[in-house]
Amino acid sequence: TPVSLADRFGRHLDYLRLSITDRCNLRCRYCMPEEGVASLGHDAVLRYEELLRIARVACGLGVRKIRVTGGEPLVRKGVVGFIRDLAALPQKPEITLTTNGLRLAELAEELGTAGMSRVNVSLDTLRADRFRDITRRDGLERVLAGIAAADRAGLGPVKINMVPIAGVNEDEIEEFARLTLAHPWNVRFIEFMPVSGDLEYAPERRVPVERIMAALERVAPLVEEPRTGPAGPARLYRYAGAPGGLGVIPAVSSHFCGECNRLRVTSDGRIRPCLFSGEEIDLRAAIRAGASDEELAAIFRRAAHVKPDRHHLEDSSVGTGQRRMGQIGG
Ligand code: GTP
Ligand code: 5AD
Ligand code: SF4
Repeated sequence: TPVSLADRFGRHLDYLRLSITDRCNLRCRYCMPEEGVASLGHDAVLRYEELLRIARVACGLGVRKIRVTGGEPLVRKGVVGFIRDLAALPQKPEITLTTNGLRLAELAEELGTAGMSRVNVSLDTLRADRFRDITRRDGLERVLAGIAAADRAGLGPVKINMVPIAGVNEDEIEEFARLTLAHPWNVRFIEFMPVSGDLEYAPERRVPVERIMAALERVAPLVEEPRTGPAGPARLYRYAGAPGGLGVIPAVSSHFCGECNRLRVTSDGRIRPCLFSGEEIDLRAAIRAGASDEELAAIFRRAAHVKPDRHHLEDSSVGTGQRRMGQIGG
């Protein structure tokens, strides 16, 4: 039988979200303040050799898919070589990436050659002025060029993540949905998760799934798609005959915790058993104290053991702990 990392609730954790940097080249209003957040010092961040070792140990425990996240993962120097090393691990894990797309036009081709299989691109507006307003930087054209480059490099079907925010970009839901009539992309709408206290957008700005669905239905009738394969957060739909698909991620209102197969590792080497719980288990200290692979595996098993049954976001004191969503990598 294949090895697997199971938790107390019978879930098999075979999906690792690996954050390789807490830095970002955007300043999205729902993610960070204008001045950015103090980033980790050089020594605090794991070196690529350390990240690779963690990935190898995790794969030895049954992890089959690694999603590389940030901050913005493509701002870290050497990322292509790191992806190549990940893809070449003995267990040949599937390697995917979540990116804001700014550097994708330059890197897509190399990433594909390195062994990356797919990319998810975060994009919240199709209007240049709004892009500047939401992210506090320019770059819409570059992101669109990045998506096209990812398509060409065989990194598709590209998933586009859009977070609708009331009074900001909610009126673009239909336009994003219409993209799937012309492109093979999977456009996914994510319920805004108001989890870091001092963000610019109040919790009331969350667009609940029902409102997202109503907007999607105004474009054309929705056909529900069966969810195949491993658990994921999205409910899937399609317009009849459309090349692209639609997804709705009810991050807050109805969670998919019951079938969650994820573990996260932050760029400073902490395992987070759940996105929404402050609890972290330190791998970095063990690595730097000379721990063996077997000792690192034991730390992973301990993290799996304390993975909570579900998030408790309805309890208003719950959040992402000391870290912002963007520093965990979503
Ligand atoms: P794939 O299924 O591999 O494509 O991954 P994904 O859709 O989870 O990845 P992505 O990084 O594109 O994340 C999409 C959205 O889902 C982001 O807003 C994430 O923050 C959110 N998300 C990812 N994992 C979790 C989770 O464990 N719990 C909750 N509530 N949201 C999550
Ligand atoms: N609520 C919902 N989604 C968020 N993301 C970042 N912060 C939030 C939030 N507060 C999304 C990004 C990206 C993914 C990794 O997480 O848009 O697509
Ligand atoms: Fe925006 Fe993602 Fe960067 Fe946060 S981490 S500022 S959401 S691009």
